[in-house]
Amino acid sequence: MNKVIGTAVSRKDGRAKVTGTATYAAEHQIPGLIHGYLVTATIANGRIKSIDTSAAQKAPGVIAVFTHKNAPKVFTPANNFMTSKIYEARLPLSDDKVHYGGQIIGLVVADTLERSRHAAHLVKVEYETQKPVVEAKNATFKEAPPQMGEEFKFEKGQFAAGMANAATKIEATYTTSTELHAAMEPHATIAQWQGQDSLTVYEPSQWVMGCQRTYADLFGLPAEKVRIVTPFLGGGFGSKAFPWPHGILCTAAARQLQRPLKVVLHRRQVTANAGHRSETEQTIRLAANADGMLSAISHEAKSCTSPVESFSEPCTGITPAMYAAPNLRLNQELAVMNVGTPTFMRAPGENPGMWAMESAMDELAWALKLDPVELRLKNETKEHQKKGLPFSAKHFADCLKVGAEKFGWKDRKMETRALTRDGKLIGWGMAAATFPGLRGKASVKVRLLPDGKVHVLTSGNDMGTGSYTVVAVTAAETLGVPVENVRVEMGDSLLPDGGLAGGSMMTASLAPAVMQACQDVLKAANCTTASDACAALRQSGRAAFEATASSAPGEEGKKWAFQSWGAHFCEVAVDEEIGRLRVTRWVSVMDVGRVMNAKTAASQVRGGVIMGIGQALMEECHFDPNLGNPVVYDLATYHFPAHADIPRIEVAFVGEPDLNFNPVGARGVGEIGITGVSAAVANAVYHATGKRLRSLPLTPDKLI
Ligand code: MOS
Repeated sequence: MNKVIGTAVSRKDGRAKVTGTATYAAEHQIPGLIHGYLVTATIANGRIKSIDTSAAQKAPGVIAVFTHKNAPKVFTPANNFMTSKIYEARLPLSDDKVHYGGQIIGLVVADTLERSRHAAHLVKVEYETQKPVVEAKNATFKEAPPQMGEEFKFEKGQFAAGMANAATKIEATYTTSTELHAAMEPHATIAQWQGQDSLTVYEPSQWVMGCQRTYADLFGLPAEKVRIVTPFLGGGFGSKAFPWPHGILCTAAARQLQRPLKVVLHRRQVTANAGHRSETEQTIRLAANADGMLSAISHEAKSCTSPVESFSEPCTGITPAMYAAPNLRLNQELAVMNVGTPTFMRAPGENPGMWAMESAMDELAWALKLDPVELRLKNETKEHQKKGLPFSAKHFADCLKVGAEKFGWKDRKMETRALTRDGKLIGWGMAAATFPGLRGKASVKVRLLPDGKVHVLTSGNDMGTGSYTVVAVTAAETLGVPVENVRVEMGDSLLPDGGLAGGSMMTASLAPAVMQACQDVLKAANCTTASDACAALRQSGRAAFEATASSAPGEEGKKWAFQSWGAHFCEVAVDEEIGRLRVTRWVSVMDVGRVMNAKTAASQVRGGVIMGIGQALMEECHFDPNLGNPVVYDLATYHFPAHADIPRIEVAFVGEPDLNFNPVGARGVGEIGITGVSAAVANAVYHATGKRLRSLPLTPDKLI
């Protein structure tokens, strides 16, 4: 049998992407397509006193102008994950209120993009303005409500008692800035109606079946009357899982006009209207005995949401999974501000949570004069302390040990400002990484042709993470055919329900279903190998053997906690004279269960590390304290790493297939790479300079 799973296979979609033949949402060529341009608010809090569209309506090429006075009809969906989720509970143009800067207040439709844009600028708006709240220091925080059924409040043991008797204690507050997803592909929607009751939407969607249900509810249709098409995404990171207001408005306007309509967000609109990661403030308290064993952990987190949706950045989710302590206390608070709606962004919660926790663990290690790797090994927990379940196939200790070995950690002295090179201070830092193993129900269809070619079809998406390739690899190995023989079609709601590309679960959801469908194809052929089945097809003149199979989580989640693990080790160079910080070396070691494709898995970790270095060094979005608008709003003003900012990133995997989790043993590898990265950098900066920086990003002003 040829071994394909776990080898390094190049992307199935790579050539199409680099040669420009991969079709993204806004690029679909639809005959008779017309164009919409959004009118957005120039204030951040208040109401529209008057809106004058007369000049816009008379402008050349204009077909329609929509405002709250003539908003096209939309039904209110349930807005939950089980039925039909929308990112923003308030429907577009539903009244005259303005809740945040850049909120959509109108849509101008014309025969060309240029004419719609021109006319949009002719719309005259008068506002009644109230002072916006866009700074957390002026916001009112309250206990965060449960989210997706998860309570944020948790306590085990007695934190106060655990704290009181401890030999060594640390308490510190860590902050992160508002961050933007900054996906290469901007959000866009093309809506095409066939009459009033049949709809096709081209939209970058991480979850075409979820979007199908949501659009169906928004327009009062049965789901099968809605088709969502997303063969490719240019990055999603959590901001492309559900419809945003522009997509809803585009689709509603297209229905009323009975013409195919396209709305593309420009970069400033992507900033204001398509999600971000909220800024956070987290306070960690750790108490340890003289041997470095933790006796108490407290993690309190604050994040902000918009007036039109409740979303808490779930920072404390990692805490019961990371380190054992008899006394543990978690809480989260949430404040409403006049900013666009925050949402999921690569490792939502885990990322800022690990920034705080892994910084605090480093502080504790220095306080105890104990190596930070040693401190983590001592305090590893065998069970998830909130779920009360043992971890399945956990190899966190190997991540730490193998990472330390590869990096040469044993040569590090526990002394700050001790290393210099070329006039710069050198520091070494490390931090742990973690992400839960998640999985959903998925279905795929597999078709085997007489010439040995295989087609695999599913609605599940590849948002740039490598899912096309993982699906192909799984089919190739199960059927014993070369991976080149496998053609994969994804991202269309006409195909079998492949579930959600989010929560790093696409591989763990899809691969078992692919495997099952391939086995069912052989069963249908009554053969043990694909070549026998192909011979049977050729002999009988039959066109194909095919099978559709589903795979879903069972009862295993009641017995086990599933979680992936990792460790990052890095070197930084700090030039204190000019406040310049460079990351000069990086090693990441991950335990993600079975690695399905060595090449794309390592790429996922590298991408996460790069995004984490961006968070550590430069990414931040500010809002104008008076006007309320984001003052950072495009790929020039929002700084993120370029190639020159990134060193070679060495990635290795340890562990074993997690067969308690699914029959393939893969826990997935999407988001874990970013977790812990910013803490590893800040910990290295402390080693280099003796400065403990607790506020991201670590910009030059903080280093001088
Ligand atoms: Mo990811 S933030 O679950 O798309």
